[in-house]
Amino acid sequence: MTGWRLILSALVIIVLILVLWFIMAPPRWWLNLTKKVPTTPEMGEKLIRKYRCRSCHRIGGVGAIQAPDLSGITKKAGDPAHVTLRLWLRNPKSIKPGTPMPNFHLSDYEIEAIIKYLEYLDKKEVGP
Ligand code: HEC
Repeated sequence: MTGWRLILSALVIIVLILVLWFIMAPPRWWLNLTKKVPTTPEMGEKLIRKYRCRSCHRIGGVGAIQAPDLSGITKKAGDPAHVTLRLWLRNPKSIKPGTPMPNFHLSDYEIEAIIKYLEYLDKKEVGP
C-alpha cells in the first residue's frame, strides 16, 4: 500500500514539475508545435495586436512611446540578416538582461511573421 502511494506521489510531483516547466520556460520544439502560423506580414500584424506590442512600442506610426519606435528596425545597420532581431524576439533578456520587455515565448513561425510585417512597414515608409 505505502509503496504505491510513494510511486503515486512521485508521479504527481513529476507531472507538476513538467507543467511548471512548460508554463515558465516552454521548450522551442513545443512552441513550434503549438504555435505554428503562416509566416506572412498579415499574420505578423495580427500577432502584434495579439501580444499588444503597441502598448509599449510605436509600430507603423501607431502606438505608445514607452519603448523605442520600431520604424526602421529591419534596416538597422549591422544586422542585415536580422540575427539580433530574431534573438531579441526569442528572449529579450538574453540580449539585454535588465530590459522591461517581456518574453512572449514566440514560436519561430511567429517571429518570422512579425519580422515580415516589420519589413513590410519599413519598405512602405521609404516608398518605391
Ligand atoms: C512592456 C513593454 C513592451 C512590450 C509589451 C513590448 N516591448 Fe519590445 N521593447 C521594450 C523596451 C523597453 C525595449 C528597449 C530595450 C531596452 O532598452 O530595454 C524594447 C525593444 C524591442 C526591440 C528592439 C528595438 C531596438 O531598437 O533594438 C524590438 C524589435 C521589440 N522590442 C519588439 C517588440 C515586439 C514585436 C513586441 C510584441 C510581441 C514587443 N516588443 C512588446 C518594451 C516592450
